[in-house]
Amino acid sequence: MAALNAVEQVFLRRLGLIQVHGLGLSVDVYSPDLPSLLGALRRRQVRPAYLEVFRAAPAALAMVRSQAGDGLLTYHGEGLWLTQPDLAGDPAFPQEVREVAGHLQTLDSAWLNHECATKSIAGYSFGTYLPPLYTESSAAMVAENTRLVQELLDRHCRLSSGAAPLVLLEMPPLTYFIAGTVDVPMFFQLVVRSTPCGLVLDVGHLWTVYRYSGAWQAVSLAQFVKTFLDNFPMHRVVEIHVAGLAPHESSSAAQSELSKRTGDGSLPVWTDAHAAPIPPVLFEILDQILSHPGLTSLRGLALEVDTKPVELIVEEFAQFAERYRMVPFPETVLPVASDEQAVWLPEEERLPDAVARGLEEAYDRYARVAVGRADPLGTEWTHPTACADELDRYRSIYLPYEILHWGGDVESMFPESCRRLAGQGVPLSRFVPFWFSRPRPRSPSYDFFLVKIERFIEFVHEEAPELAGIAQQEADELRGAYEVANAPPVQIMSERP
Ligand SMILES: [Fe+2]
Repeated sequence: MAALNAVEQVFLRRLGLIQVHGLGLSVDVYSPDLPSLLGALRRRQVRPAYLEVFRAAPAALAMVRSQAGDGLLTYHGEGLWLTQPDLAGDPAFPQEVREVAGHLQTLDSAWLNHECATKSIAGYSFGTYLPPLYTESSAAMVAENTRLVQELLDRHCRLSSGAAPLVLLEMPPLTYFIAGTVDVPMFFQLVVRSTPCGLVLDVGHLWTVYRYSGAWQAVSLAQFVKTFLDNFPMHRVVEIHVAGLAPHESSSAAQSELSKRTGDGSLPVWTDAHAAPIPPVLFEILDQILSHPGLTSLRGLALEVDTKPVELIVEEFAQFAERYRMVPFPETVLPVASDEQAVWLPEEERLPDAVARGLEEAYDRYARVAVGRADPLGTEWTHPTACADELDRYRSIYLPYEILHWGGDVESMFPESCRRLAGQGVPLSRFVPFWFSRPRPRSPSYDFFLVKIERFIEFVHEEAPELAGIAQQEADELRGAYEVANAPPVQIMSERP
């Protein structure tokens, strides 16, 4: 057997400290209500072996931990934009990592799962994730940023086991398009080559890659999955997610019109949808994944159920637990006998400045193409790996919906301001081009709801300055209510997971 290189050795040593977590649920503290969910699971006599908890206020996470006793909890992070060239230089970054470290320590989570995606690119803010540019320099940047985050967690976070949490990168979904010059499996090969991180393979995300990379027009799903898995770094997959897929809520009204324009319709136009039922096709893909010989590091297999109705979660988890109760998780083996915690690698070279600058420019173009301010031209958009067939759906339907309705309906948030704007002949639809009219400094701690409030005040200032006082008053009320809503509940959980 060929000797393992240093990166693989470090990964295996870290992995060896993580116990098998089994079949779990990836949840949100508030949605759906966690005590109700756990009570319903108990009544059905099914129990997740672990809960993966999405980012929440520290006090809420502490409450979950105390109620969970010694039950296994893991952490689904948010807000570290690992794909972005300006991550390390962002003044807010050290504080963000310290907060994440605090959350991980509170939950005693063996890993930090973070989407390999961003909601903030080159000064443009989005409500949902945009995948990375799938290029070589972008992969190098992700690798460098991931190493940095791991290094900081090593410094600032120590679990009860004495180890630091392992960073896991989740392969993100595609929402109608992909840009880049290398395919998704090769991108992650490039990332793990110089970074001892783990990966999360989300089955629904994989389906969206089939759908929106254009592969569905050339090969069957089973063949696509086989080729994908054969080329993906499967030995780094530490966790698998399964969540729902559904047509996006923005598209129902415009669906038929756009279908005529895109001219297909033989495959559903699904996007990642945690509230939606899990379609059976995802379990067919999951079976293919679980039988892949490269899957040697799996520690957890979870349904991702935030925002899903409790009854549906219980039904799906009961079936899932029955179907996958015999999943052979690989044994945890310490590959290198060592007490030392120093599991870092020698200093690696950073991305040359010129390459980093080139990547910044590429991301600036990427953002402008995505928001409709530039045409999908240039190598990242014209390479055979790229697919912009349905980019128009993203720009003209998905994105306006995101700005006007998703994560806070603007008209409901600012009723008086909107009424008066309408009275002055300013349609709310103008808020969308305003939002993307220019890049702005990144918000210190990214929260789309708060970004929306900030942008709307700016919008009113520009369109109707005489209404600024009213908008400000509505904004103050929204921020106050938001703070109250994010306070920890009296009791999060009624029992251990
Ligand atoms: Fe996921």
